[in-house]
Amino acid sequence: MSQPTPKFALAFMIVAAGCLVAGVSMGIAMGIAHDFALAPVHAHLNLLGWASLALMGLTYRAWPELASNRLAASVQFALSAGSAMVFPVGIYIAISHGQPLPAILAAIVWFTGAVLFLGRLVALALADSRRHLPAAMAAAPRA
Ligand code: HEM
Repeated sequence: MSQPTPKFALAFMIVAAGCLVAGVSMGIAMGIAHDFALAPVHAHLNLLGWASLALMGLTYRAWPELASNRLAASVQFALSAGSAMVFPVGIYIAISHGQPLPAILAAIVWFTGAVLFLGRLVALALADSRRHLPAAMAAAPRA
């Protein structure tokens, strides 16, 4: 039987695909209406929501050990997926109502999620090199 898909990878991919459907629907609506005022909302829904979250999901799929710390993975998912959905709304509010604060706050949350993602990848790389170090030292020719 095949391995089950890691839950975090699937969660990232589901939110990403939701953003893709919303972003592309918006693109079609903009094209039909010939009104491109909200193009930045569409672009960020697709690029933060679809592209970035899908890459994160595929990364969790490629390195399932990233989710071994469930708390860190849950927090990163909440920060990244939550802000990917809120940020485009913030851009809409900034464009339509001249109020940039929601977009600024969502951008900071997105940044925090990205830093946590980087931290988890670096921690995984360090743990991996520590695991392989004794074997590499044992295999090294002695002078
Ligand atoms: C059926 C699919 C899509 C349609 C119909 C569509 C439509 C549009 C339209 C009408 C614009 C505005 C063009 C203008 O300002 O002259 C636009 C801009 C843009 N789109 Fe899409 N789009 C689609 C999918 C995507 C996807 C999948 C991505 C990214 C992964 C994307 C990224 C962008 C970007 C970066 C811009 C430029 C935004 C800006 O100038 O502020 N689009 N799209």
